[in-house]
Formats: sequence, structure tokens, C-alpha cells
Amino acid sequence: MKQKTFALRGNIFYSTDSKNIKAHEKSYLVISDGKVEGVFETLPEKFSGIEIKDYGEDLIMPGMTDLHVHAPQFPFRGLGMDLELLDWLNTYTFPEEKKYKNLEYAGQVYDAFTEALTASPTTRAVIFSSIHVPATKILMDKLEASGLITYVGKVNMDRNSPEYLTETTEQSLRDTEIFINEAKNYRRTRPILTPRFTPSCSDELMKGLGELKKKYNLPVQSHLSENPSEVEWVRELCPDSKNYADTYDRYGLLDEKTIMAHCVFLKDDEFELMAERKAFIAHCPQSNMNLASGVAPVKRFLLRGINVGLGTDLAAGASLSMFRAVADAVGVSKLRWRFINNEQKPLTFNEAFYMATMGGGKFFGAVGSFLPGYEADVIVMPERNSGVRREHLLERLEQSIYLSDENVKLTAKYVKGEKIF
Ligand code: GUN
Ligand code: FE
Repeated sequence: MKQKTFALRGNIFYSTDSKNIKAHEKSYLVISDGKVEGVFETLPEKFSGIEIKDYGEDLIMPGMTDLHVHAPQFPFRGLGMDLELLDWLNTYTFPEEKKYKNLEYAGQVYDAFTEALTASPTTRAVIFSSIHVPATKILMDKLEASGLITYVGKVNMDRNSPEYLTETTEQSLRDTEIFINEAKNYRRTRPILTPRFTPSCSDELMKGLGELKKKYNLPVQSHLSENPSEVEWVRELCPDSKNYADTYDRYGLLDEKTIMAHCVFLKDDEFELMAERKAFIAHCPQSNMNLASGVAPVKRFLLRGINVGLGTDLAAGASLSMFRAVADAVGVSKLRWRFINNEQKPLTFNEAFYMATMGGGKFFGAVGSFLPGYEADVIVMPERNSGVRREHLLERLEQSIYLSDENVKLTAKYVKGEKIF
């Protein structure tokens, strides 16, 4: 659909790389056919007469990409935060995900999830569903109607899981292929292969998913090296693999269209493999704190040029707000620097903002910046301050992000140039 050219006016911010954020006071973001034409302090002659939406003192920035979030875990966020990963999965997560056999329940939760995600700073998300294809379809229907652009994955699990959440290998692959074919009916909602993690996926299942990836040219999401007990378990389960990352790579599941959540404890050879494959890492700081997983070496990922974005990882992360993920990423990096490795500096606010926008957005293409040609995902928000407006624009951005709680009321949201609200 051809969209007309229009401009948004306000205080405009965007990353140009991992270190730099551009700030333009009372400027114009010009959008044409869903893409950014440019940011201008005065509107160029050639755009005279276009529609201008003036947002006054509001902050205008790229919509954020949540690179890792579990939709069916929405109902129990904020619970069980005294457990580590494997106990948390058994006690809270699996009993909840069982419920998505019930489509009425799925509809109710996915309505609430989609509504919350739409209201949040997120414009793009990469989402785990549960093993259930009908419930996954309900989730995709709702996301499609929301206007957000997402990847959604039906989860695969054929071992080491409760009986009620264990598929046979054949059923898991068959259902995945049904899911892939049904997903062709959507415009904004795309399928992604989703082996839960190595402990719950047999070699045969991984092999079959590798074949589906090739056949349909699909992206992949999973978990990698999140928790010490999990890492040790994978070593026992896969004695023939070089390391945890290899349990995916050996089946062709690791490339530039793969997202691995966490990567807290990567060994040097896994680290290099992630770099070589150009895979994405979803850093989920709040989840890593809540489940006492550890602190991922994010600065090292950035310095090595590894693709890295941020995820909320609901419900191991309690908050759906990517603003919170930005602040938490900076916070946990300081603990890492102080207590784990003082050779790597903590993350700066600019680096965390970059990961939430451009870093994760890259998984979707030219997304997450206002450089010319980027897809126009935009959020507009009221400034937050302590009653006194900061003089420097970048301080206004940083303060507004730190002071906005989960119920931040955005003024407007655009996805690929289309107004969502
Ligand atoms: N590893 C396997 N499944 C999960 C999950 O649902 N959440 C998190 N944080 N880690 C996992
Ligand atoms: Fe997760």
C-alpha cells in the first residue's frame, strides 16, 4: 500500500551506531511510503505542504524490538522469583504452558498480552508461544490485528519435560509444518522455528527442525547457556557435541537468522562461533537477575561485533517494558564490572539504547533507527522529569526512559509508517 509522505515534529532521538545517539530539538521526522526520508531541523522546500503532526515537547524515538519474550508466561510474571531456571520451569512455567490446550484460556491471555505489548514501547517482537498449534494461531491472529510486526514460534519439546508437555518427535515436526503453512496467511506475523532448548529437544527433533529450516528458509530462536546447572546438564546429555552452541550448530540451526537468548556462560569457542555465524544474542538482564542466572558479558559481545539486542524474557523477566530492559542492562553490567571482570567497562546508556532499537531491530532488516531508508517504527512519549526540564536533550531522553514505569502512556506509535494509535 502506497502511503503518503508526512512528518512528525518534536524532540527526536535515534542511534547511528552503538556509541552515538543523535538528538534534534523540535525537528521534523519525514516518513514516506513507510520509510524514513530523514530528520530535519527545518523542513526542506521539497516537503512543503505535507501533513505535519506536531507533538510539541514530546520525545520521538524508534520503536523498540523485544528480541525474546514468552507470550504464554504473561499470567505468572512476578511470581517464583526465588527459584533458579530448572526449578522455576518445573514449578511455574510448565504447569502454566499446559493450559494453552484450552483455547478459551489462550484467547483471554493473548488478548491481554497483545494489548499490553501494543501499549508498550515495543514495535517489533520475537515471541515464544507454547507447543500448541491452535493456541499459537490465536496468538498470531491477535498480533496480526494489532499492527505490530512479530515473529512467533510454536515451541518444540520431545524429552525431559512433563508428560503433559511432551510431544513425540514425529508429532512435534508434523505440527511445526502445519504451523508453518498456516502462518502463510499473515502479513505482519511471521513463523520462527522454536526448539525450546537442548534439554527438551532430542537429536532427531533438532535434525528435523534443521531440515525444515532449509526447506522453508526459516529463522530460529532458542535459549543458550543461561544457567550453570543447565549448561552442565547439556554437557551430560550431548557428550558428542563440542559445546552447548554446537548442539544447535551441528543441525544447521545457527546462522544470521538465529536468536539465542542469554549466552551468559559461553566458552571462547562458542563465543567465536556466534560471531562467525553472525547469530543474534538476546540479552535479558531482568531475567538473568530474577533467576539468579548470572550476568552476560554484553560489552564483550559488542566489542567483538556480535549482533546483540535486548529481551524482556517474560516471565523470567517480570516487566514487559523495554525501557526497563535498557535501564537493567546498564545496571547489571556495572555489577559484572565490579564483581566479575573489571577489564570490561560497564555498558553506557547509549549502548543499551542502541541494543533496544538498532541492535535488535537488525533482526528485522533496516529497523530501529531514523537514518534514511530505515522502516519507520516510531514511538512518541511525554517527557518525564522531576519537575524541572533538563537543558540537554540527551539527558531528557535518558531521564524519561529511567523514570517511565511499565504503565507509561505513549502519545503515539507508528509501525512501518502506519499509525497504531
Ligand atoms: N529455558 C528453557 N525454557 C525457558 C523459558 O521458558 N524461560 C527461560 N528464561 N529460559 C528457558
Ligand atoms: Fe526465555
